[in-house]
Amino acid sequence: MRRVLEQEIMEEMMERYSTMYFSEEPVDDEDIKGILLAATQAPNAYNEQPWRFFVAKTPQDKEMLMEYMLPGEKEWISKAPVLILLAGNMGDTHNGLYNYWTPFDTGCAWGYMSLEAQRRGYVTHCIGSFDRVDMRSEFQASEDLEIYGIVALGRPGDAALMAKEKQMPRKTVNAVQLRRR
Ligand SMILES: Cc1cc2nc3c(=O)[nH]c(=O)nc-3n(C[C@H](O)[C@H](O)[C@H](O)COP(=O)(O)O)c2cc1C
Repeated sequence: MRRVLEQEIMEEMMERYSTMYFSEEPVDDEDIKGILLAATQAPNAYNEQPWRFFVAKTPQDKEMLMEYMLPGEKEWISKAPVLILLAGNMGDTHNGLYNYWTPFDTGCAWGYMSLEAQRRGYVTHCIGSFDRVDMRSEFQASEDLEIYGIVALGRPGDAALMAKEKQMPRKTVNAVQLRRR
């Protein structure tokens, strides 16, 4: 029964997984634009579109981001031809207040981004284990930005190594039961 249900789901959703094996082949600029455009189609509170992206594709820009990563992550992520920093604007909202929904909306944009990348034959892997605090304090931005993740983007890497990677299992869907106190 479950297998039939899986076959009905959007292919890209079922195929996507976070690989550690990227080809060093460059990513086409038009594809980067398309992938980012897809991200901006995400639904978002008050249409604030609070997501902000920084695309690193030169060795210098990539190094600037990798400086904040752990050695273990750096090893595989350095192969990815493109890194995209995912940030969100916390302020400057429709009512001049803090935007509570910024992380929610930016996460949704990342989801859209990953699916469009998958559709175009790319693979992605988002990481959060880097020194966000240091990074935030060392970069100047004209907005009040919170940093969430760095996405590695590229064509699939070594097929034999990728074949050994396993898709992470999913828990069964559990609706949250809300009860009044
Ligand atoms: C916000 C975020 C942070 C993550 N941080 C890391 C990380 O630091 N290192 C890593 O290897 N994977 C990281 N991942 C990938 C997750 O481990 C992965 O998405 C999860 O295990 C589900 O597997 P799948 O993406 O292959 O379906 C992160 C993913 C997200 C969305």
